[in-house]
Amino acid sequence: MNAPDWTALLQAARPELAQPALLTGGSGRLGRELRQLLPELQAPGRTELDVREPAAWLERERPALIIHAAAFTDVAAAEERRGECWNTNVHGTRSLARAAARIGARFVLISTDYVFAGLNGNYQEEDTPGPVRNYYALSKLAAEEAARGAMPEEQLLVIRTSFRAREWPHERAFTDLYTSQDYVDRLAPQLASAICLAGHLPFDTVHIAGPRRSSFELARERRPDVQAASRLEAPVKLPADVSLNTERWLEFVRERSLLLG
Ligand SMILES: NC(=O)c1ccc[n+]([C@@H]2O[C@H](COP(=O)([O-])OP(=O)(O)OC[C@H]3O[C@@H](n4cnc5c(N)ncnc54)[C@H](OP(=O)(O)O)[C@@H]3O)[C@@H](O)[C@H]2O)c1
Repeated sequence: MNAPDWTALLQAARPELAQPALLTGGSGRLGRELRQLLPELQAPGRTELDVREPAAWLERERPALIIHAAAFTDVAAAEERRGECWNTNVHGTRSLARAAARIGARFVLISTDYVFAGLNGNYQEEDTPGPVRNYYALSKLAAEEAARGAMPEEQLLVIRTSFRAREWPHERAFTDLYTSQDYVDRLAPQLASAICLAGHLPFDTVHIAGPRRSSFELARERRPDVQAASRLEAPVKLPADVSLNTERWLEFVRERSLLLG
């Protein structure tokens, strides 16, 4: 099958975006891409809306849709600053999700492939998560559960994904670490489409990511002179294969493309 035309899908999906819609984390890597694709999103900065205390803002603005992309994402720092990481990722998500439930807003939570152990790869939505490899991953898994506990499942969409900045910044990349991570500008149109279509997705969890390949193969796509290395040389323990199975999303898109066609 040909790769779907993600830009065309987004164009078709865009009228479905619930309004008004709030994006948290709008200044982040993903947030900046989403704001470009969906400029109608309201994206207050952290001084206006701290996700740890969102109730007053939400009660006042009453968005119909909340896309929660803000998080404490520094994996190394999370090991040292656990309280800050937990407060942002778990309490923050719970507070937002509870407020969303109160005002009847749909809630889209951006989550991560790191909720899985990374042993076998090809993880499906219903696979059992964990054991997680670091504190950041623990906080994201707890955040998912906090959101699930706060609202009916038909109001919630958890999107597990994996992306990186637009360029490969390192001189080396691992040939023995498999991932479905992709460059954020490539994934953003898919993620934006899922956000627009959140009310139509007949499930509460979905994986949206690139094709499975080694980190080295991914790096070479944007840095052809990158050198091969092994994950066993890294100073921290890294998973062998944390790739996500994206068949649920692709199947939905295939059906939807027919409907949209
Ligand atoms: N990057 C990845 O590889 C990856 C992979 C899978 C999933 N994810 C998830 O995708 C989402 C976006 O990640 P990203 O890489 O784009 O993040 P990022 O670049 O690190 O940006 C984090 C965003 O969260 C905001 N934020 C942090 N604490 C906040 C608070 N207390 N109140 C309000 N805003 C706060 C930051 O605001 P400031 O600008 O004010 O700091 C920033 O906008 C996150 O949920 C992350 O867990 C990321």
